Formats: sequence, C-alpha cells, structure tokens
Amino acid sequence: MRRTIDWADGAIVIVDQVALPAEYRTLTLRTVTELVDAIQRLAVRGAPALGAAGALGVALAATQGGDVRAEADRIAHARPTAVNLAWGVSRALAQLPHGPNAVLAEAQAMLDEDEQRNRAASAHAAEIVLDSCPRRTLRFLSHCNTGHLATVAWGTALGVVWHLHARNLVESVLVDETRPLLQGSRLTAWELAQAGVPYRVQADGAAAAAMARGLVDCVLVGADRIAANGDVANKIGTYGLAIAAAHHRIPFIVVAPTSTVDTSLATGADITIEERAATELTESAPPGATAFNPAFDVTPNALITAVVTENGAFHS
Ligand code: MRU
Repeated sequence: MRRTIDWADGAIVIVDQVALPAEYRTLTLRTVTELVDAIQRLAVRGAPALGAAGALGVALAATQGGDVRAEADRIAHARPTAVNLAWGVSRALAQLPHGPNAVLAEAQAMLDEDEQRNRAASAHAAEIVLDSCPRRTLRFLSHCNTGHLATVAWGTALGVVWHLHARNLVESVLVDETRPLLQGSRLTAWELAQAGVPYRVQADGAAAAAMARGLVDCVLVGADRIAANGDVANKIGTYGLAIAAAHHRIPFIVVAPTSTVDTSLATGADITIEERAATELTESAPPGATAFNPAFDVTPNALITAVVTENGAFHS
C-alpha cells in the first residue's frame, strides 16, 4: 500500500480519505491553505499522519518562502487534540535556521521514522495481547481507524492485527462504525478487506452487547494525545468502550508512537477536545436541531490495560 502522506515534486500528496471507500485517489496539496483545509475536512487524519502533515506543511512553507513561522502556526492550530500535529510542525521548524532543504530533509526523515515507530509499537503490543488473551485465535474490537490511513504507513492499533494476521492468529475484527464520520465502517473496514482479515461492522452502540455475549477477546485503540499520567484522548466513544471492557474484564490496549505522548500535561483533564460542527450530526434531526459533537474523549489510565509505544508499555 502506498504511503498515506508523502512529498512529491514540491508538493504534499495525500490519499484522500473523504473519497474512500468509494474511490481510492490521491490529492496534491500545493499551498498551506490547501493543507489546512485537507486537515480540517479529515482528508488527511489520524494522529501520526497529522504529525507528518505538520512537518511536510512547514517544508512546503519553507520551500515557498514568505512568513514560514506564521504559516507553521496556522498548520499547528488546524486541529487541537492530536499533539502529533504541533509536534511535527515544531520539529521541522527547528531546522529553519539551516534553510529549506534542511526542513524538508527533517520532514522526510520523520516519514520514515513514523512507519518504524508504528511497526515497533504494534509488535510490542502484539506480544502483550498474546500474554493477556488465552485463546489460540483472537477476536478484536476496533474503534475509529488506526491503520495505514491514520499513519504514514502500517498503523498503530490495527498494526497489531497486521502482525498477528501474518501469524494466522486473528479470527476476526468487530469494527465500530465510529459515528459521526464513520472512520470505522469507511476506512478500517476497507483496510481489513484489502488485507483479507475477516471483519464485521457494528453500530457503536453494539459494542457493549458484543462484549457481554463473549464475542470480544481484546479491544485495540489508538490515541491522539497521552498525558503524563497515562490518560488517553482518542476518538469519541473510546471512554465508553473502556468502561464496558473493564466491566467485562476484557483487555483494553492503546497503541501509539511516542510522538503522541505529551508529558507537558499532567492528566487528561488538561487535553483540549475538538468540538466539530453540529451539521455532522443533525442531517436526520428536525430543522433547527443543535448538537453536542466532541470529536474525542478522555479515557482515564485506570481503565486501560496497557498504553504501548515503540519503547514498550508506557509507565507514568
Ligand atoms: O478525527 P480523526 O479521524 O483524526 O481521529 C483519529 C483517531 O481518533 C485515531 O484513533 C487516533 O488518531 C489514533 S490513529 C493511529
């Protein structure tokens, strides 16, 4: 599978995640304004992919001249919750005194690193999963999209599925559709189908019932920001899944690269949660309906079996 985000001929090329699964196509972003728009429309999304977008965006601004620091600030604030975006921006920006080529070289090195970190984090997590689940083949529950499309390549939580599928240890994946933007039924289901992994899509509200029926051996999710105490911000609905998993004594594993860890925040209460437009929810509601539409929630560390990075299980 090609990289979700890359640099080609002086521009940023992304796989257009709004078009999937109907169409697999790329978009070429030639200006910072186009990049910010793509981030806000979720044409490029997922915390690690946003880190790459941040770094490549600074490279784009640097190679085009102008006020690079102001452009970097605009990119860093395009979405507030995934710390990777501002992390990617600031790491690339640190090379600005050495010139545009140094900024671009740093951004390109970060693309390579992202895949290596995600492969390592998901390999560590796969071993933790095997230690915590006694069955021979495993039935996972997945929320949002944490695969190739959420990263430069490979994936985080879904990367665990790729590692274990290669060893014939995956029986199936229950895919939360992940309302309101359907990253699960549109993107995760598409990736699992491409890889030949058996899966079923379920309504988000069916997750607790699936656990109660004994259909889930392990819940695998990614993260958008991990506070110093191990609290995790991730796609809305993750917190409810963690409560249900704890009730049913099902391992709940979070997989993320260290670029998602924000030790400047003591707890998850300090994480800014993106609120999105009511129109994402009100299409089938009566005219004039308003909405509560947070894109993420915070899961307390006490409900999490393990937070796993490329360095192994994360301890606060
Ligand atoms: O709003 P999105 O689609 O960017 O949200 C993405 C998620 O919540 C993912 O679970 C998270 O970024 C981890 S991706 C490896």
